[in-house]
Amino acid sequence: MISAAENEWQSLAPDGTKVQYFDQCGSTNSLATEAGAKGLPGNTWFVAGKQSAGKGRRGNAWLSETGNLYSSYLARPAVLISELATLPYLVSLAVRDTFIALGCKSESVQCKWPNDVLINEKKASGILIESNAGSGMKCDFIVIGIGLNLKNFPPDARFPATSVLDETSSLVKVTAAFRVLSRALQQRIDSWRPNDVGSMIEEWRACGWGIGMRREIRTNNESFFATLEGVDDTGGLSLRLDDGTMRCLYAGEVFGPPINH
Ligand code: BTN
Repeated sequence: MISAAENEWQSLAPDGTKVQYFDQCGSTNSLATEAGAKGLPGNTWFVAGKQSAGKGRRGNAWLSETGNLYSSYLARPAVLISELATLPYLVSLAVRDTFIALGCKSESVQCKWPNDVLINEKKASGILIESNAGSGMKCDFIVIGIGLNLKNFPPDARFPATSVLDETSSLVKVTAAFRVLSRALQQRIDSWRPNDVGSMIEEWRACGWGIGMRREIRTNNESFFATLEGVDDTGGLSLRLDDGTMRCLYAGEVFGPPINH
């Protein structure tokens, strides 16, 4: 028997997708991953009002109080695992589309490498993409986890954070945000050509935060300053080091401008 809440959430998502709604769970990404491993068909959203064990990138926790959107999309794209490298750009652009549709000024919404979306230079969403390989390096399933800071944000985050409420003075309902996000992501996925990503990368670059600027780069084992030159079609971030040499980065994080350097 489908509950009234589940019916309401189902009516918000685009045709051809299913929604499982939970008032509370550990992590929507974990729910979607467990379902994927058990063979649940793709095109299924997992949404929660609150998470007790929200997962962030690089093993961080994701603070998940009521009022924000916590959602994960389980998909089974017919692609190779290697073709997923540029998916973070697609997802960040869908989140950017969402913030703009929810009332943020387009020039205020930027994408920060690899997949953060900023409003007025502060982080307003989190994206965590997890994938599972099938045979022959084909993708079995992916889980696209998206958190939107509609109302709350952590005050002590490593990179300054914000919410739609703080930036626009409007409190957006979680259901309204999900309606917009699920459609924006669907549109982007429908037009995704993993081997022809030039125009998508170009679009990302045009709203990319810090492109052309000298920024701090942190990886698992080092921290240095470099100028962000752009993103290539393989998904790597091109960096110009201070000695003029070029380097391509596939994992790490970008932080604010160097202070008095
Ligand atoms: C980041 O560190 O920036 C990524 C955060 C991703 C958070 C979202 S909230 C919905 C989904 N469920 C999770 O446990 N994580 C993602």
